[in-house]
Amino acid sequence: MQRISLVNIAHDLIKDVLHTGDVAIDATVGNGHDTVFLVEQVRPAGKVFGFDVQQAAIDSAQEKFQQAHSMECLSLIHASHADMSEKIPVHFHGKVSAIMFNLGYLPGGDKSIITCTDSTVAALNIASQLLSSNGIITVMAYPGHQGGDLETEHVKNWCEQLNKDQFKISIVYSAENKETAPRLFVICKTH
Ligand SMILES: C[S@@+](CC[C@H](N)C(=O)[O-])C[C@H]1O[C@@H](n2cnc3c(N)ncnc32)[C@H](O)[C@@H]1O
Repeated sequence: MQRISLVNIAHDLIKDVLHTGDVAIDATVGNGHDTVFLVEQVRPAGKVFGFDVQQAAIDSAQEKFQQAHSMECLSLIHASHADMSEKIPVHFHGKVSAIMFNLGYLPGGDKSIITCTDSTVAALNIASQLLSSNGIITVMAYPGHQGGDLETEHVKNWCEQLNKDQFKISIVYSAENKETAPRLFVICKTH
């Protein structure tokens, strides 16, 4: 339940900056819930790029969107988010309004396929460059599973080293207030 409420907070923050015609990235497509949300904000003229390393996630998202007839707004890419820079056309670089990361494993899926610290940090570096002025990155992190604690720590460290003149950082903690509780990192590019 808490996960859902933090994701809702991420969606509300993104709604303030992402509008029809804009460009967005779902860095972890999974079951496609965030992808659907992003497409709803930018359609009909905008563009969403969705990344996942699991072919099953890409296939199921593709099916969902074909049924909804909104594929023209969406490019689903079977690749790591660490490869975002090469996979996204250069003319969109610096023009992406919102980038969502939902770390960890796919609920109901293969729990051995999880996001990894190195590729997550590499992708965050690229994301911060692809972002437009006034753009937003949200990162849902789960320190409660094995490897998730270290990954969350690295995301926090990555946020701390960002130029504070260029980025505004906030962390939304779940009400549980436990070390292992999920949390939402929000990174806003001020200029
Ligand atoms: C928590 S799930 C995402 C949930 C999704 N946002 C949703 O709304 O259903 C994490 C996803 O990240 C994917 N993933 C893991 N490593 C990745 C990587 N390096 N690049 C892109 N996706 C990755 C997993 O396959 C999994 O589907």
